[in-house]
Amino acid sequence: MEYIIKDLENAFDMEGLEDVQQSAWGYPDRDLTPASLFTVHAHMGGVVCAAFVVGSSVPVGFAYSFPAMYKGVLVQHSHMLAIRPEHQASGLATRLKLHQRSRAVAMGYSLMTWTFDPLLTKNARLNLGKLNARAVSYHPDWYALRGGIYAGLPADRFFVEWDLTKIMLEKAKTAPSGTLVLEADSKACATMPNLQAEGVLLIQSPRDINVLKAQNLEAARTWREAHRVVFAHYFQCGYVVTDLHDTGEQTFYRLELL
Ligand SMILES: CC(C)(COP(=O)(O)OP(=O)(O)OC[C@H]1O[C@@H](n2cnc3c(N)ncnc32)[C@H](O)[C@@H]1OP(=O)(O)O)[C@@H](O)C(=O)NCCC(=O)NCCS
Repeated sequence: MEYIIKDLENAFDMEGLEDVQQSAWGYPDRDLTPASLFTVHAHMGGVVCAAFVVGSSVPVGFAYSFPAMYKGVLVQHSHMLAIRPEHQASGLATRLKLHQRSRAVAMGYSLMTWTFDPLLTKNARLNLGKLNARAVSYHPDWYALRGGIYAGLPADRFFVEWDLTKIMLEKAKTAPSGTLVLEADSKACATMPNLQAEGVLLIQSPRDINVLKAQNLEAARTWREAHRVVFAHYFQCGYVVTDLHDTGEQTFYRLELL
């Protein structure tokens, strides 16, 4: 299928982005970001861009960011990236992020930030591997979301920095190497993390949290709890999360001292 990416400004065009949110996240109405906010930010220094199938006026995905202060620096904070499920895995997410990046660079920004759920490893491959951003902190209950694809677990998030001054290189997919500090037990639950390790570290995450939640919600919760402990500890020690290693059966976050 052939797609086109466009910046949106017209208030009526923003309404389609509410539909994309419902389709991608399954959110109830009260959790939707409203069309009016997209319109305001499109006119007030943000970036609102959407993907369309060529010849159609119905958006199939979008990226949305706005100006924000982070550590005393003006950044674009990207609040949303979403693709309708039937158009996922077509590279559209990467195209939208690159479009958003070029618009931010043209406005003079050198840093973009956003958050993502560490248990969604597909997002991690996109953010850390394909876009070469890095996760620098862990935030329990970043949102009060309880519905849609996040139902059943607290809405914790990694906070991500994307350096817009560096050439963006997709990382090659490599085999996991480093000290394993958190892994799965025989029942797919998280074990107790090792908090004494040094050097390059590996932290396991379920490869598909939605399947695990459907089969064993308690096991999914053990991962949320273990991630809270282990990521908070190693971020405190100065580590950053630089990549996701995916063997096809297991996934591991890679942490390094930079
Ligand atoms: C996250 C989202 C935007 C990604 O869109 P997409 O079109 O599927 O993304 P892409 O095809 O560009 O990239 C996905 C990558 O993850 C990989 N991947 C898929 N499932 C994976 C898994 N379980 N573990 C690791 N990697 C996985 C894919 O192979 C692909 O990488 P590759 O091209 O190197 O093979 C989309 O899934 C979405 O809208 N999800 C719901 C909303 C959401 O979570 N938004 C992001 C909030 S930060």
